[in-house]
Amino acid sequence: MWSFFVKLCRTAVTMLGSAILFWISFILLFLLFRTKRPKNFPPGPRPIPIFGNLLQLDLVDLLNDLRKLSERYGKVYSIYLGRKPAVVLNGLQAMREALVTQSVEFAGRPKGLMINHLSEGKGVGMTDGPMWKEHRRFALTTLRNFRMGKPSMEERILGEIFHIVKHLEKNAGKSTDPQTLFHKAGFNIICTVLFGTRFKHEDEFLQLNIRHITENSKIINGLWGMIYDTLPLLRTLPLPFQKAFQNMRMIRKSLADQVSQHKESRVPGEPRDLIDCYLDEMEKRGDDGSSFSENQLVFYLLDLFFAGTDTTSNTLLTAFLYLMTHPDVQERCQKEINEVLGEKEQVSFQDRHRMPYTQAMIHEIQRVADTVPLAPFHATTKDTRLMGYNIPKGTIIIPNLSSGLSEESQWKFPHEFNPSNFLNDEGEFVKPEAFMPFSAGFRVCLGEGLARMELFLILVTLLRRFKFIWPEEAGVPDYTPVFGLIHSPKPYKLGVRLRGSGDLGA
Ligand code: HEM
Repeated sequence: MWSFFVKLCRTAVTMLGSAILFWISFILLFLLFRTKRPKNFPPGPRPIPIFGNLLQLDLVDLLNDLRKLSERYGKVYSIYLGRKPAVVLNGLQAMREALVTQSVEFAGRPKGLMINHLSEGKGVGMTDGPMWKEHRRFALTTLRNFRMGKPSMEERILGEIFHIVKHLEKNAGKSTDPQTLFHKAGFNIICTVLFGTRFKHEDEFLQLNIRHITENSKIINGLWGMIYDTLPLLRTLPLPFQKAFQNMRMIRKSLADQVSQHKESRVPGEPRDLIDCYLDEMEKRGDDGSSFSENQLVFYLLDLFFAGTDTTSNTLLTAFLYLMTHPDVQERCQKEINEVLGEKEQVSFQDRHRMPYTQAMIHEIQRVADTVPLAPFHATTKDTRLMGYNIPKGTIIIPNLSSGLSEESQWKFPHEFNPSNFLNDEGEFVKPEAFMPFSAGFRVCLGEGLARMELFLILVTLLRRFKFIWPEEAGVPDYTPVFGLIHSPKPYKLGVRLRGSGDLGA
């Protein structure tokens, strides 16, 4: 009797197991057919239910996989992030057709990804519609006014450069760790614009915020960011992507404190910085139904803060890595800088027009730095067509900016560091169309002007004063960047020497 009962139980368990297996297979098969590409959609690898193409991609070396897919499927192809299809744009022609020719159709932002959840649908970088338009216009106008105002943007940047020079002078004759030096400078420059304040390099506010910003730019679009975007079921689990949310809460808190302090100390109509300008604007608009609000201001600051710190700093870090290891390029820039500036006390942004080689060097640095390789993803705002394919409204668009910066048909030296990529036969500075590190179209980086000014003033001032040497003990330089929303070079040491007054860098 007992053995009959055990047998019966075993049979029941086996039947239940088979039934569960049957249902799982059924659901997977159902999903497999449901994740079929829409009609005339760009081709791509076959997605797996639930995971999409996640398991077929190397998330640590994603750019290499995206390049291989482009060789197989063409300049416009699609991949699945979980169940969501995403169209990847490769090379100048596809990006120009989408981002420039059809700027309106391709200027949206996707919904439901980690980057949206971090910004809670507010701010400027990840919003669309009237909120995005109003805030983008306001930022562009305010930044333009600051460029002319007192102190001018140039004066704010030169003020910060003074502190970099002091730090390097202390380290002349030695090697120093530049990892945080340029982040601190970039952070302080954006802080003088947003809150009219700079922070000492030892300041806890500055150090904590830089740590949170750099951690987040590695998580977003990195391995854990992709897992978050692809597998919604895992989002509430205590996995490493939770760190990005923790960091964001901390940055938000420090920005909200800045807004409160400004509300107490401001004189309406006499703005000192962007926060004051925004508060004036809020008062002017009153209850007219506009998207300006104190809560929105915090997310707005957060976007500018985030977008303006890690980008310029990592470009500068890349610059010194290449300048140290290409002394011929460094010396040619120093010679040009000496000739153009002569006895002049400080460089000004206007001087760039007389420095074609230095301009070419800076652009070449931006090309190889490839700072924002995949841009924050876009989305289509309506049903549209691109290079013969149908792309429905709301599709995620991944502009592979990286692909254009090394496209073989567009560059004289696509795979080497060579400022001649930006010089014509007469030695004049020229900018090829495929140079899009700031992206293009309606979403083009709104801090481009500020970033270009920072890069020029910082690089010229430092090259004029110092010679940078790759430390002997540092071994072979590694140029492979660490992937994330923002590329950064691997840590290295900066060898610093003071230049003499007649030194041409030789
Ligand atoms: C070398 C430095 C920089 C690079 C390479 C860079 C690059 C980019 C790229 C590729 C985008 C994405 C555009 C798109 O979605 O297609 C972007 C957006 C943006 N950048 Fe920059 N950026 C830099 C510096 C800055 C600075 C200094 C600021 C601060 C004012 C800034 C503020 C922004 C903002 C707010 C957006 C979002 C624009 C929008 O969605 O409308 N960036 N940037």
